[in-house]
Amino acid sequence: MSQNSLTVVDNRTGKKYEIPIKNGCIKAMDLRQIKVDEQDFGLMAYDPAFTNTASCTSKITFIDGDRGILRYRGYPIEQLAEKSTYLETAYLVLHGELPNKSQLDEWTYHITHHTFIHESIKKFLDGFHYDAHPMGMLVSTVGALSTFYPDAKDIFNPDSRRKQIYRLIGKMPTLAAFAYRHMLGMPFVYPDNELSYPGNFLNMLFRTTEIKYKPNPVLEHALDVLFILHADHEQNCSANAMRSVGSSHVDPYSATAAATAALYGPLHGGANEEVIHMLREIGSVQNVPDYIKRVKAKEKLLMGFGHRVYKNYDPRAKIIKRIAYEVFDVVGKNPLIDIALECERIALEDDYFVSHKLYPNVDFYSGLIYQAMGFPFSMFTVLFAIGRTSGWLAQWLEMLGDPEQKIARPRQVFLGYDQRNYVPLEQRK
Ligand code: ACO
Repeated sequence: MSQNSLTVVDNRTGKKYEIPIKNGCIKAMDLRQIKVDEQDFGLMAYDPAFTNTASCTSKITFIDGDRGILRYRGYPIEQLAEKSTYLETAYLVLHGELPNKSQLDEWTYHITHHTFIHESIKKFLDGFHYDAHPMGMLVSTVGALSTFYPDAKDIFNPDSRRKQIYRLIGKMPTLAAFAYRHMLGMPFVYPDNELSYPGNFLNMLFRTTEIKYKPNPVLEHALDVLFILHADHEQNCSANAMRSVGSSHVDPYSATAAATAALYGPLHGGANEEVIHMLREIGSVQNVPDYIKRVKAKEKLLMGFGHRVYKNYDPRAKIIKRIAYEVFDVVGKNPLIDIALECERIALEDDYFVSHKLYPNVDFYSGLIYQAMGFPFSMFTVLFAIGRTSGWLAQWLEMLGDPEQKIARPRQVFLGYDQRNYVPLEQRK
């Protein structure tokens, strides 16, 4: 009997099975042989929300949720946040290695030269109400890009894939900024190729009458770090959507639209907006203990706390907290920070939060920075989506190149009616 195996005894039949263990996993398909008789379909694993099921092997992002570790391609997030840029990190996430100088220059050139969007996209945006949520506009316009680039369907052609990657990373900030300007009823600002990736984004968002927009270097840097921190996070809800939808071999714009839609939800990327609503609802530092009481009574969630994998302080939250103060030095302190700090202080000492291993996640402080920088709440998740695009694309590439992957298609446990006969309308009760 191999040591790297699991011996299973099926008490229904008394039969014994030896199931191999590889990389700390058994293959769910190895359970299928376990049957009570020949007609039996075979044993399956039931795992709603994939809480203990690996859907892929991956070499992109490593998370140790108990120790609060996050690494892209082996590099600790703290080092990347301090020393890298978003475009360099995006290259790393997608290619597996940090670029050398000429690779980085070429990569930056191509991304920068794919920032313009087709003029017809502006017509889509014009069709949205002034108060349309920018995430809704982003989901729609990124999906619509597929109609402009039919070559994107050629997903097994590496040259085509590369081009769509340049386009998606290049155009996401443009789509996001145009959605924002549409909300304000302001004219769209076209990309400026002389600016950095975050600098150009700030230009497209905030430029008014200046001939040449000069981004504030602190805000430009803060945004770059936020994009780095959001670049990837292994098999989260939106990465899973990207892989699952991409597994049908649809073009990457359609798959990215699905991933963006997944990110929109308040339990995923929408949480940063919810944090601000919550802090405003709390209203003052004095009201924090009462709010925490209501959270413990399960009347409320403490938004920005808790995570499916981090059972320790989210390492991204630590970096964001520091960056928040750098931003406040430029734009003034966000008054909600005091309420947030008090929530964190009380929660980290409270038995409920300690025993449930609930710590601040990436969304707890990011919204405070965005709000201080002048972004409306509805833009917060959009900012997340821009950074996450490189991760979604890396997950998509890895999925396409993995010979073990097929179209994603979970099983179900059917608990509905057995066959029954159609009842004519007049005979129904
Ligand atoms: N406030 C209060 N209690 C919480 C919170 C919270 N924020 N999060 C989890 N809990 C409690 C649950 O009530 C549950 O308690 P119980 O065991 O006594 O019933 C226990 O902790 C486990 O919670 P689950 O919801 O089962 O944990 P899960 O891993 O499914 O959820 C999630 C993770 C969705 C992030 C959850 O913690 C949550 O809703 N947090 C608030 C929303 C949020 O901040 N989301 C952003 C996540 S980061 C990101 O997606 C980028």
